[in-house]
Amino acid sequence: MNFTGAHILSIGQFQRQDVEQIFSVADRMEPYALRKRVTRVLEGAILGNMFFEASTRTRVSFGSAFNLLGGEVRETAGFESSALVKGESLQDTARVLSGFSDVICMRHPQEGSVADFASASRVPVMNGGDGSNEHPTQALLDLYTIGRELGAKGRTIDGLRIAMIGDLRHGRTVHSLSKLLSLYNNIQVMLISPKELALPENIIEQMRSAGATVTISDELNNSIANVDIAYSTRIQEERFTSKAEADVYRGKFRLNQAIYTQHCEPNTVIMHPLPRDSRSDANELDCDLDDNPNLAIFRQTDNGLLIRMALFALVLDVVDKVDEFSHEVQWYNSRQQ
Ligand code: CP
Repeated sequence: MNFTGAHILSIGQFQRQDVEQIFSVADRMEPYALRKRVTRVLEGAILGNMFFEASTRTRVSFGSAFNLLGGEVRETAGFESSALVKGESLQDTARVLSGFSDVICMRHPQEGSVADFASASRVPVMNGGDGSNEHPTQALLDLYTIGRELGAKGRTIDGLRIAMIGDLRHGRTVHSLSKLLSLYNNIQVMLISPKELALPENIIEQMRSAGATVTISDELNNSIANVDIAYSTRIQEERFTSKAEADVYRGKFRLNQAIYTQHCEPNTVIMHPLPRDSRSDANELDCDLDDNPNLAIFRQTDNGLLIRMALFALVLDVVDKVDEFSHEVQWYNSRQQ
């Protein structure tokens, strides 16, 4: 695909070669993310970071990625601080904000809302999550992480065995990741969820049509025995009509060190898009895994910076100018000690 000026809305817009191009550019962003070098390539550019639903890492990661390329960030967080509460349409909001920004990132609780917004925007729009639908940049950073974790063991993404665990019905990260995995060969997917929270049938069908082997289970321990990646997800409480309805499923698929040791292969990589629900009645990914070297959750968040920098560089067409506008950092850098 031609990335220049493109919206990034759905995994469906990518071919495998596009994904590999993003990953290749992400690799080149590492000296900047690690603060070995500073680039000013986006000096003067403005990111409109529009989050109308709770977020910590996606919002700050998009903003930090843009800052690391030399650009500036303007933010709106929540409906209450925007004119949407006065009845302004997403389309009018897009027409206005695209006059102020060079690129816009947006999260919104309604499925399809970011695409609606993008249809009226004069600048590229990136989907930071639209309801239960998609979270494409999360899937890209997840697959980039999988590639790096497997690459360290001499493996490739082709042939991956992955378990996806938890609320697969509402979890937009697993929707996008499943679609992304459909671009790769010989993928084996184990879907572990309560029956009511199963991955939507159309996504399962898409993976099977692409040649993936998909197995479905509602039991954790014996289903994580033969996988390279155990990808846990949170019960998406905000998608249920009441907390009580979500509580029925909370804590059903806890993964802790004892279960890992007993049931997983020794080097199974543990992933989660975060936030993990660490409340005692959920504790879906126990803190006793924090010293496990195969816990990749904070490598995922670090890699998210690289992926989002790569997307900005591609969409704003500065990939080959990033190094030209760079210099070494002058300040104390704890990452390099
Ligand atoms: N993974 C993710 O989307 O996290 P936030 O909700 O904190 O952005």
